[in-house]
Amino acid sequence: MRGGPVIAVDGPAAAGKGTLARKLAEALDLPYLDTGLLYRAVARLALDAGQDPAHPAERFAQALMPADMQRKDLRTPDVAQAASKVAAQPAVRAALVETQRRFAAERGAVLDGRDIGTAIFPDADVKLFITASPATRTLRRFLQSGGDVNTPDAQTLLREMEEALRARDEADASRDSAPMRVADDAHMIETDTLDAQAVLAEALRFTRE
Ligand code: CDP
Repeated sequence: MRGGPVIAVDGPAAAGKGTLARKLAEALDLPYLDTGLLYRAVARLALDAGQDPAHPAERFAQALMPADMQRKDLRTPDVAQAASKVAAQPAVRAALVETQRRFAAERGAVLDGRDIGTAIFPDADVKLFITASPATRTLRRFLQSGGDVNTPDAQTLLREMEEALRARDEADASRDSAPMRVADDAHMIETDTLDAQAVLAEALRFTRE
């Protein structure tokens, strides 16, 4: 028996899952977990140990401490790519399943990630799949990381970012272990033409259905 509802927010890179999940948790007074941080923290530990992120990283996942997820150096593009590699390892995913389920046990939770509605909480009360075109997601991530579209190298940077983002989505969607996919009972929210407030309103509508 869970102490409150579980809301799964899945979707590809930089779709705005984090922004939505945080606002949703606040509106519904539920705890919030950014599950991407778990994989980013495991990747960070592997990189710090001088290890190729494609090599077995299970021991880092098993030894993960809350402080590892609060590090300031988890949001870099290098860590994102490495996270996608450690996240493809079944043993790494297995080591993190219980952490995620336990997080929601007491009061329910809003969790954002790739497999929340399919693998972690197939019985979630509400499942949302947040998406947007690669161009929109790239631009959002570019601006979020302090990029300026008026600089001479902006177009090159955007092109490189979009390529990296597409490659990571492709890897996340095609791995054998809990690949990113839309759950049969998920509500899709396309966010190309919606601002954060409108996405929240849409999500709340599905939550209250
Ligand atoms: O913020 P962004 O959407 O770019 O990435 P993230 O949510 O922090 O996730 C980083 C990487 O972790 C993803 O590319 C996935 O490979 C992996 N991940 C996962 O496999 N399962 C999750 N529930 C969350 C993240």
